[in-house]
Amino acid sequence: MLREPITINPKIVEEIVVREEAEFRKRTPRSHEIHERAKTSLPMGVSSSFQAVPPYPLFISRAEGSHIWDYDGNEYTDFHLAFGSLLVGHSHPVLVEALREQLGNGSLYSLPCPETVFLAEEMARRFAPIEQVRFCNSGTEATMDALRLARAHVGRDKIVKIEGSYHGHHDTVMMSTKPSVDAAGPADRPNSVPASKGIPSNVKNNTIVAPYNDAEALERILTEHEGEVAAVITEAVLMNVGIMLPDEGYLKNLREITRRHGVLLIFDEVKTGVTVAPGGITELYPVEPDLICLAKSIGGGMPIGAFGGREEVMRHINHEEVLHLGTFNGNPMSMRAGLVTLTQIFTPEAHTHAMGLSKQLGEGYVGIIEEYDMPMHVAQIGAKGCAMFRYERARNYRAWWDIDMHLSYAYWLFLANRGILFPPGFDDQWTISIQHTQADIDHHLHVFQQFVLELTK
Ligand SMILES: Cc1ncc(COP(=O)(O)O)c(C=O)c1O
Repeated sequence: MLREPITINPKIVEEIVVREEAEFRKRTPRSHEIHERAKTSLPMGVSSSFQAVPPYPLFISRAEGSHIWDYDGNEYTDFHLAFGSLLVGHSHPVLVEALREQLGNGSLYSLPCPETVFLAEEMARRFAPIEQVRFCNSGTEATMDALRLARAHVGRDKIVKIEGSYHGHHDTVMMSTKPSVDAAGPADRPNSVPASKGIPSNVKNNTIVAPYNDAEALERILTEHEGEVAAVITEAVLMNVGIMLPDEGYLKNLREITRRHGVLLIFDEVKTGVTVAPGGITELYPVEPDLICLAKSIGGGMPIGAFGGREEVMRHINHEEVLHLGTFNGNPMSMRAGLVTLTQIFTPEAHTHAMGLSKQLGEGYVGIIEEYDMPMHVAQIGAKGCAMFRYERARNYRAWWDIDMHLSYAYWLFLANRGILFPPGFDDQWTISIQHTQADIDHHLHVFQQFVLELTK
């Protein structure tokens, strides 16, 4: 039986934030300076608003293996890995060699190359739901195209998405990604809350929002909208609010309910594909969705996206029905990178190595949290994991409102100043690459323990 968690003293958290922010600024003046300059030519000084985080974004000069160096020359062990896009780590020598060769043979044809076929075959081999696949250039494109295909296949307009789940930045899915307490509505019947201005006001009529881990609510929503919904799209494990895992049986229920209502089930595996297991979510949970979307780590760090499923659904992609287009789709750099990464670098041993270190890191965190009765819990799956600043396991997005954001900020700064780089923004998780080492994990745990010691002194 665990003891009661301690209460963190907000004064100590504030002291850490003030001190560590000052230290961060001292260590990274060139990042600060170029960010100030960047604000003139780039809104918020960055190219993706995710990158604009306090106190200012670190600008990066180079990376290699599991390490990354900022513009001031500070070295970090990289647990950010481009929001989990680099299970392969940085500049893997096999990949560098292959891409160098490919660059010499041309970087873009906008005509098919054989690697597209070989990579498609590898995708079908790895990911159970895939009989056919189409490539695109990002996770956003993958979910956008999969949803259009689902609408065409089922012949309905509406979709259901899960509150707190993120599927990229196209209009349909930029709904209730992180709605505020005031706007979110009842927990079992959430409002559809646009995440950005500029989304046409009628989009929310076609995007219905359901709570995660609540099969009953989904059943009710699909009954109320019988005959209107084409697809339910969700991350099987929510990964843009830390990590929230499915309750026992939830994914199976999702499958049964969607099937009963004639609705396609789409798993967004942009983050989970290859990182949670070599074959993604469906290797871990006995549930087969109709379509899956992939991106990030399947491309070895090159821009890539993919969506695939049964031939019976995918065959709607033709000149008369669903158009799927893109100048850069199936480009030789990304295809070669994906192919080499999945078939040559991601051996079973490489997967086992990354997932083993991630498990070790998770267990190390749990040990420290329990030793000091910290009001935190750890969620870990495959090569990914995170500490959630909340004692009870988070079951759905509403738990996100209890997360102590100031404490999360103190944690991020404290770790960064000691050479541990996490994704900025507190909503992400660590990714362990196949190039991380035991020393990387040991150092990380040492720094985390120092942080906890400061908080509990
Ligand atoms: C689950 C999920 N789906 C889709 C996307 C969008 O991918 P991209 O940023 O490549 O457009 C992301 C990005 O973080 C994601 O985490």
